[in-house]
Amino acid sequence: MPPNGTPVGDRSTDAIGVFDSGVGGLSVLRALHSELPLEKFVYVGDSGHAPYGERDDAHVIARSHSIARYLIELHHIKALVVACNTATAAAIKLLRQDFPDLPIVGIEPALKPAAQSSHTKVIGVMATRGTLNSEKFGSLLASLHGQATFVLQPCDGLADAIEHADATKTIAACAYSTGAMGQFGHESGAIDTLVLGCTHYPFATDILRSLVGPNVTFLEGGAPVARQTRRLLAERHWLAPAATDADPAALFRRMPAFFTTGNATNLHTAVERWLQVQADVQFIRIA
Ligand code: DGL
Repeated sequence: MPPNGTPVGDRSTDAIGVFDSGVGGLSVLRALHSELPLEKFVYVGDSGHAPYGERDDAHVIARSHSIARYLIELHHIKALVVACNTATAAAIKLLRQDFPDLPIVGIEPALKPAAQSSHTKVIGVMATRGTLNSEKFGSLLASLHGQATFVLQPCDGLADAIEHADATKTIAACAYSTGAMGQFGHESGAIDTLVLGCTHYPFATDILRSLVGPNVTFLEGGAPVARQTRRLLAERHWLAPAATDADPAALFRRMPAFFTTGNATNLHTAVERWLQVQADVQFIRIA
């Protein structure tokens, strides 16, 4: 592999790298696995350097770059999925500049589909402070000017509470955020669509549902990311081949490999709970 990450030759059996600041990217991995069940995934949760959402851009850019390089050099990935809204907002442009031949897919809060599907045209957006303050998010919002009213809610502490499976703090942060956003429901002027603009938040769906009621549509970004990943691989003819009896190793490729820069037990528990698989999680240092 050349140092700039240029993939060469037949890459179809190589892995897809996926990273987030922690367990949140598992919500994207779930969608990826369902769209691309034959692919092998390597997941990195950067919990030792989280949360990203309340840190400055320089930190998130440096971490994203180090993890991308680690995945390229050690795991020879054929594509990279930035399964974190905050890292996408801060770093995806630079990642694409630095690794120009590697397909890189990012995630952004699902404002566009929300503007299309909302009836009341009042949309709640929960995200990290880093995402909401980013230039990328500003452009996305500006591109939808006049199409809907967006109620933006920075959810300080929520990703961290979910990361540590702290139910009390998760409930408190969700209650604070939804309380601050206003009225939810189908009535005119109420929020009928809630964008979960951080990949950790889908893991608080039950709590959020109990707070906003049954008539609110939740939107997350995993499925479009998975479809875009498929498109980029398909156009390069890099999709994983179907498993055959003659190629038993192909079956093995389907179990993702999990790495964390933080607490391995946290990621292991989250994988078991949210993906319903038993997997080894390895601690790694990524400088
Ligand atoms: N999961 C990340 C996101 O999508 C960020 C969580 C954090 O580390 O603050 O924005």
